[in-house]
Amino acid sequence: MWSSNVKTGAELSISSIPVAQLAKEFGTPAFIMDESDFRNRCATWNSALSTAFGSNAGSVYYAAKAFICVEVARWIKDIGIGIDVCTGGELTVALKGGIDPAKIEVHGNNKSVAEIEKAVAAGVGTIVIDSLYEIERVAAAAVKHGVVQKVLLRLTPGIEAHTHESIATAHEDVKFGFSIASGAAWGAIVQTRKHSSLELRGFHAHIGSQILETDSFEISAQRLIALLAKYRDEFSAELPELDLGGGYGIAYLPGDTELDPASTMKALAQIVSAQCAAHKLSVPKISIEPGRSIVGPTMFTVYEVGTIKDVTLENGANRRYISVDGGMSDNLRPALYAAEYTALLANRTSTAPKISSRIVGKHCETGDIVIREIDLENDIVPGDLLATPATGAYGRSMATNYNHVPRPPVIAVKDGKARVIVRRETEADLLGLDI
Ligand code: LLP
Repeated sequence: MWSSNVKTGAELSISSIPVAQLAKEFGTPAFIMDESDFRNRCATWNSALSTAFGSNAGSVYYAAKAFICVEVARWIKDIGIGIDVCTGGELTVALKGGIDPAKIEVHGNNKSVAEIEKAVAAGVGTIVIDSLYEIERVAAAAVKHGVVQKVLLRLTPGIEAHTHESIATAHEDVKFGFSIASGAAWGAIVQTRKHSSLELRGFHAHIGSQILETDSFEISAQRLIALLAKYRDEFSAELPELDLGGGYGIAYLPGDTELDPASTMKALAQIVSAQCAAHKLSVPKISIEPGRSIVGPTMFTVYEVGTIKDVTLENGANRRYISVDGGMSDNLRPALYAAEYTALLANRTSTAPKISSRIVGKHCETGDIVIREIDLENDIVPGDLLATPATGAYGRSMATNYNHVPRPPVIAVKDGKARVIVRRETEADLLGLDI
């Protein structure tokens, strides 16, 4: 939930800096990011993949959509893992951060021709093809740039992953990829092979996000491997790569579990080697795309309390509304997925009794809720700070300017020093697009 250099229990601090001091220096709301924790999490996933798969380990591609900025792209470059981007914008940031194009993998169910051309021209390692149209578009871009582009086909293995409907991606009735069951995947394989400007390297599947059990990943791997075997039987050649996507779940609330990288990779490696042995296939290079499980726990959001009011519910109970200076513009997940978070009083300790509270934002709608129900100290007053952990993934990256609220900055903290890596938006930024 909290990143490794955060201390709770006393006054909240990160890498020995009190959060109150950060709020004073950088303002609120703000995303505070634990740089060492981010780097360690990248390294942990990388070593979990290598340990489990040995010489068959492909790449860890950090899923940029969870959170990316140029400085984080530089960290990724230093650490040496790959990155998955799904738009021209994410690609631009990755390249600006100096990431080797060969370590970039490009996704998206509706990449524009311009995005495809930009990716091919940049020399990205892999493009994950999502539709029949795209087979033609990527092939044409490769011809135009005089290259043979490595591609994977995105497949939907027909799995109902245990997660929120909006973030499950591998069942049949979904916009992504080629269905294995319907034969669409086979059609795409045949079509891709017709293009000498495309090198089909293998298959990709991403079954969903915030998944907390390994069984769905295992079924996905089995179905992809069965298709690799069918390919070998038909074409007398083996495809060398499988990308099993991201989706590894993290803890948001006290008592939540998260998928442990080492044991998750070990379980996957066992399935992959057993299935490959059963089909008499050599084990392909296995890649993964964790986003949330790398960046999620590395950030928390700090808010300042602005107003407080008590209401009496129909059953006679009291509910305290605590309004903070951000809300659904910096954390859309509660409104979008009924996602749950926790929070702590961040600028002081209090032994006051706790009462049932609802933390709400400053936006003009009732659904602007940060935390629907939480017991918080009853002496919280305007000016106090609240910190919400585990907001690193899909927090700042899905932030909006709703109600013309400028988006919060990202402050990276490492070895007792804090610095801005994404500055706070200003009203001038907001006006900057108006003609
Ligand atoms: N690879 C692909 C192809 C993906 O579509 C995604 C996420 C990932 C990797 C990374 O998944 P992760 O490891 O972060 O779970 N906005 C939603 C999550 C949407 C995920 C979209 N794709 C949320 O806030 O829960």
